[in-house]
Amino acid sequence: MSFAALWESLLPVGRDGGTGGYRRFSWTAADAECRRWFFDNAAERGFRSAADRNGNLWAWWDVPGAGPGGGVVTGSHLDSVPDGGAYDGPLGVVTGFAAIDLLRERGAAPVRPLAVAAFCEEEGGRFGVACLGSRLLTGAIEPARARALTDRDGTTLAAAMAAAGQDPAGIGPDPELAAGIGAYVELHVEQGRALAGLDAAVGVAEGIWPHGRWRLAFTGRADHAGTTRLTDRHDPMLAGAVAILAAREAAARHGALATVGKVAAEPGAVNAISSAVTAWLDARAPDEPRLRAVVDDVLAQARAAAAAHGVDLAASEESVTPAVDFDAALRDRMVATLAAAGIRAPVLATGAGHDAGVLAAQVPAGMLFVRNPTGVSHSPAEHAEPGDCATGVTALAAVLEDLACH
Ligand code: GLV
Ligand code: MN
Ligand code: MN
Repeated sequence: MSFAALWESLLPVGRDGGTGGYRRFSWTAADAECRRWFFDNAAERGFRSAADRNGNLWAWWDVPGAGPGGGVVTGSHLDSVPDGGAYDGPLGVVTGFAAIDLLRERGAAPVRPLAVAAFCEEEGGRFGVACLGSRLLTGAIEPARARALTDRDGTTLAAAMAAAGQDPAGIGPDPELAAGIGAYVELHVEQGRALAGLDAAVGVAEGIWPHGRWRLAFTGRADHAGTTRLTDRHDPMLAGAVAILAAREAAARHGALATVGKVAAEPGAVNAISSAVTAWLDARAPDEPRLRAVVDDVLAQARAAAAAHGVDLAASEESVTPAVDFDAALRDRMVATLAAAGIRAPVLATGAGHDAGVLAAQVPAGMLFVRNPTGVSHSPAEHAEPGDCATGVTALAAVLEDLACH
């Protein structure tokens, strides 16, 4: 099937009519529709498909007689951030199917099995921990901790999985599945403008900056906005505001990035001082000492502000991903394969997290990026031109053919 037809078939799923952004949160109705779309596509191609114990989806083009291990896997994720773009995640899954279609049309004869995968809860958009499906698969998060994660309504991951028909008791490391992967190559929309500046339609990932998420919970005292003297207040919003500004200043000071994109105020009355404010810090840096320095600076300023305003602060780490250097041999091989196919693909580092970065701890992993003309991502404005997506399919097909057919 053509890339365009596949792309169009997924486009309406989970899109908000008002904003045009996507709300594809794991274990919801939109997620179930994405899963159906995935299994339908696997079935149309005669692939063996299943959700693994952690809810990640797999569609295998088996090769009779191929020995165990060595599977060549491509894919990405189908979940989104709140009001995310169409491309972040789905582009890798759709190009995965389209690239394998291209290989089949050409009569390619793989000697190793090929698979398309879609990892669960990559964005952490519902349960807070990024790359949850690949973390569980590789043992990078304790199953008990994962089961107890809650969404904004207090529903646990365990309850959400059970309600969607997936047994939460089974989550955790899956060494047998991991052992079957010889290489994982994830294609992703670029989340920056480097390729536009280099006049290249696709790029190859060098590595991923270390990054993580921290939760800063400030607890104060609710009181009347019209009668409480300024000196009598225990206002957690003020300490939260200091932390938000500290994130920006620390990022600039250390040559890093830091963002507070999510804040929750309780009880949320216009005419009351908040009883509690929670702010989530997302921090990323070129190296781990700088990442740690940013977080330490923000926490120090948050603690000082909490003390000054008479509020409590409980800070916790939600997820941290160390620096990732993608497998150098695989990266060089991809660059050479693309060059032989007439595709110039610059090598880029990124500050965005990906399942490929988590899997890289256990299997040779690499990534291809497709140019994003504005660089905007995690937004309904995220975009890639159809011609660049087509080059992405050609590039991915060349890489998969090289890895699976020789
Ligand atoms: C994933 O998109 C991330 O937050 O880096
Ligand atoms: Mn993303
Ligand atoms: Mn993504």
